[in-house]
Amino acid sequence: MSVVILGIESSCDDTSAAVIRDGVLLSNVTAGQAVHEEYGGVVPELASRAHQQNIIPVVDAALRRTGIGRTEVNAVAFTRGPGLLGSLLVGTSFAKGFAQALGVPLIDVNHLQAHVLAHFVAEEGVERHFPEFPFLCLLVSGGNSQIILVSSYKDMKVIGQTIDDAAGEAFDKCAKVMGLPYPGGPHIDRLAKEGDPERFKFSKPNIAGYDYSFSGLKTSFLYTLRDEVKANPAFVRENLNDLCASLQKTVIDILMGKLAKAAKDLRIRHIAVAGGVSANSALRQAFVDYGVKHHCEVYIPKFSFTTDNAAMVAITGYFKYLDGDFCDIALPPYARVTV
Ligand code: KG4
Repeated sequence: MSVVILGIESSCDDTSAAVIRDGVLLSNVTAGQAVHEEYGGVVPELASRAHQQNIIPVVDAALRRTGIGRTEVNAVAFTRGPGLLGSLLVGTSFAKGFAQALGVPLIDVNHLQAHVLAHFVAEEGVERHFPEFPFLCLLVSGGNSQIILVSSYKDMKVIGQTIDDAAGEAFDKCAKVMGLPYPGGPHIDRLAKEGDPERFKFSKPNIAGYDYSFSGLKTSFLYTLRDEVKANPAFVRENLNDLCASLQKTVIDILMGKLAKAAKDLRIRHIAVAGGVSANSALRQAFVDYGVKHHCEVYIPKFSFTTDNAAMVAITGYFKYLDGDFCDIALPPYARVTV
């Protein structure tokens, strides 16, 4: 008998629903939220209201595209956290109601685990290139920068993480002071293509172990801008490409430095990247180069699996379903990981 999982993701500002049958993706529908653009960041209250408007059409479209009737769904998987509580509540409540109406089990999914397991989403007609266990996963997003040792679908250990800002946050905050729209990461990526990455030097952290820090880089970036703008008010506009390229190179050097150290120490030859920042073209290239240089197998996600999506929630739900790992309907969402 085949297993059909409906996945629901609503942790931040994307409402997404996906259907997976026996680990193969049948549909993945995401509605973004333009409402935040003018505020330069995600406004939690507006996000949860937009989720309320989007959730039914998104789930409906995801099911319709598969041609699978809702009664064929074997379980409903939803992102329980971490994320924005109001946003999570919408997806959680909808998943609970839907599962109860269908009389099928409910599966809670950790958003970060789902980002890692996005690498195991199979697609019809697409060659499978799944990571081999154990592997290291660099999880880089707007809220997280972690190095995770993945020993199985369930066994994941965070061996390094940021002690302050996340990599995506560093991109977004520096982009903001350069007057770029939110989120700044994709704009920096685009502008950096025409810039000189060696033009400016920003400070890099010196932290023991595999942990990251990006607040020093952010401060050194701000000080450079402040000093230069005093002398030339048009400095940012005239040097935008070089600033973006130099900032991007520094972030990637910091990320790859710790990852390489962990891979060497633990003698791991399978390395993956996940999360919103893994859409960055220079970071993707750095992974390819790393693989060639160190004779390692690298795993880079499809663009549609880098940012928040329900395909990764559904695949995590699928593995949990096979283990009979279901959750109680009374389980509340959580904003932060507390363990
Ligand atoms: O995983 P994600 O979609 O969700 C949150 O953590 O909220 O990651 C969003 C982050 C943002 O900081 C955004 O600027 C960054 O991913 N991002 C990028 C690129 N695309 C998205 N950063 C650099 N280059 C990109 N191409």
